[in-house]
Amino acid sequence: MSKSKRPDTRIVHTGSDPKSQKGVVNPPVYRASTVIFPSVQAMKDAEKTRFDTTYYGVHGTPTTFALEDAMADLEGGYRAVSVSSGLAAVSTALIAYLQAGDHLLMVDSVYGPTRNFCNNTLKRFGVETTYYDPLIGAGIADLIRPETKIIFTETPGSYTFEIQDIPAITEIAHQHGIKVMIDNTWSAGYYFKPFDHGVDISIQATTKYQAGHADLILGHIIAKTENDWRKIKITTSTLGQAISPDAAYLALRGLRTLSVRLEQHQESALTLAHWLETRDEVDTILHPAFASCPGHEIWQRDFTGSCGLFSIVLKDFSEAQVNAMLDGMDYFAMGFSWGGFESLMVASDPRKIRSATTWEAGGPLLRLHAGQEDVEDLIADLERGFDRLNGKA
Ligand SMILES: Cc1ncc(COP(=O)(O)O)c(C=O)c1O
Repeated sequence: MSKSKRPDTRIVHTGSDPKSQKGVVNPPVYRASTVIFPSVQAMKDAEKTRFDTTYYGVHGTPTTFALEDAMADLEGGYRAVSVSSGLAAVSTALIAYLQAGDHLLMVDSVYGPTRNFCNNTLKRFGVETTYYDPLIGAGIADLIRPETKIIFTETPGSYTFEIQDIPAITEIAHQHGIKVMIDNTWSAGYYFKPFDHGVDISIQATTKYQAGHADLILGHIIAKTENDWRKIKITTSTLGQAISPDAAYLALRGLRTLSVRLEQHQESALTLAHWLETRDEVDTILHPAFASCPGHEIWQRDFTGSCGLFSIVLKDFSEAQVNAMLDGMDYFAMGFSWGGFESLMVASDPRKIRSATTWEAGGPLLRLHAGQEDVEDLIADLERGFDRLNGKA
């Protein structure tokens, strides 16, 4: 089969090899710890290719290899490594490169548990983290030290939605021999292609849009080059990171419909954001497609679309008023993660988390995920929510 360059075709066919499995389209679920060898020599030979063929369950099975091929293809990388969660993808990628005495530059808008990993685990192992302003761009140069090994980015921030100037950061990083990592979960690897912008390592919380059905926890680390992939693969194997073939199968099944689901998430989120913009209760729309979002022009330059996740800043309402709104929602459920078929809404206070920058906003922040429900029902749900916010219901 010819290899199309078009992402929608690739997503459907990548990681699939029906000829090798009696014509069956989806890869079988190989449940394997033990793999046996016919001779001592065969066992020795297999050890050398243990990351490419079945050798021992912890290093992978045909099911996990198929998913990894597909994830690498999605992002345009050399190869991917599967780990047990999105957070494990972050921590494992950092562990693969950092050692005592190293310095890490971490974006201030980063996913909270990533910050926790740096402030606690990495600190305990002698790695120092400096947080930087997500809008710093080329100004990152001023924070680089001789011992800086990694610049970690996440764009947009998953609550406050600042969009980072990744090409500016990667250019400066590479002048200093520093690797750049990105948590690329928001774009789902579909709307932003990090390797085209100089990134070395991309991270996906596969839990979200690739899995897509709120029933899996999974992560991927995707490397641009063979050297980086090998370094990460050796680390995951050393740490004993392995995923279940059932999880791999489900993620691959989810991935096949990624583009149509994302299109719907995008459209509904934009409809909601435009409607929210007309509401008196709303102070600011933090959606990358809106000029009010910090770094919007960078999103226009570097991204090809937006997913279902965005935030709004309300005017000055009390916590009790916000709670009244959230408590009675019919479709916007409260819960963590996003990227599933269902709509979600959570309140957050970024002021409590920042250290390099202050986050000033007019009022409380609500993060919304537009699910696959009819958007008119979602608008009606929000309308009733605003009535409760205003004490009218
Ligand atoms: C931006 C981002 N990265 C990473 C993660 C971690 O993913 P997981 O829940 O699979 O550990 C999350 C989870 O919410 C996230 O929002």
